[in-house]
Amino acid sequence: MQTGVIIVAAGSGERLGYGIPKAQVPLAGEPILAYALRGVIASGIADAICVAVPRHDETLRQVCGEVSEAMAADGTDCPPVLAIDGGTSRTDSVREALATLQGVDAVLVHDAARALAPPEVFQRVATALAHGGEAVIPVREMTDTVKMVEHSDNAAIAQDMVRETPDRTRLRVVQTPQGFTLQALTRAHAAADLFDDQQAAAVTDDAMLVESMGIPVYAVPGSDLSLKITTETDLVLAEALLQKYGS
Ligand code: CTP
Ligand code: MG
Repeated sequence: MQTGVIIVAAGSGERLGYGIPKAQVPLAGEPILAYALRGVIASGIADAICVAVPRHDETLRQVCGEVSEAMAADGTDCPPVLAIDGGTSRTDSVREALATLQGVDAVLVHDAARALAPPEVFQRVATALAHGGEAVIPVREMTDTVKMVEHSDNAAIAQDMVRETPDRTRLRVVQTPQGFTLQALTRAHAAADLFDDQQAAAVTDDAMLVESMGIPVYAVPGSDLSLKITTETDLVLAEALLQKYGS
């Protein structure tokens, strides 16, 4: 099975608020993208890697080159790493990257923002695909109780009120890398290309697109290290995790 890995790193990082693309933001002194790319290469599952970076971003293109050269110099078997311009939404970035991976059988899509996702998670997803899954996602069990809310009937008390409490034992938090057959992901993104702006904004992961086509999506264990760095607090947590567990 030939496997391509897409790393989406073309976001602007508004919520992190550094005024530079999030993938460039230093995590313990190195750009977030460097960790994400090292994790993918170290997993050994990638035959080709395509990284979507912000349009004309030379800094992140350079990170791609430096990481793979350093790993190759250390004797790691490095697949080719291609950096391309991403799009205006995450979905657009995935679609642009997908167009470069046409020779492969399977594709894993990974957020650069999940910089510390361990190599084992990539291997679990790839193994499930090799066993015949068309779509595979890494998940964690919920530790918090989750409520479904609606607009409250008395705004003087509060804006929202609880409608129901879903059974926590059946809920999962979803991470990346998410893996698909090339065919399933290509079909899903062709369908998403026809979405209006509101529908496009509602797409937060690739599995949603595949699910909506009736393709079964399998769930394998993710990792607490795969947290998505979104806010400053997440960056602090990621630095603490790195200090304790390394990468
Ligand atoms: N992403 C991308 N192209 C976009 C938007 C997002 O490749 N046009 C990527 C981000 O780089 C990130 C992943 O998708 O690795 C998840 O997105 P998110 O965490 O929302 O990152 P940003 O969009 O950069 O952050 P924010 O929404 O706070 O601006
Ligand atoms: Mg975003």
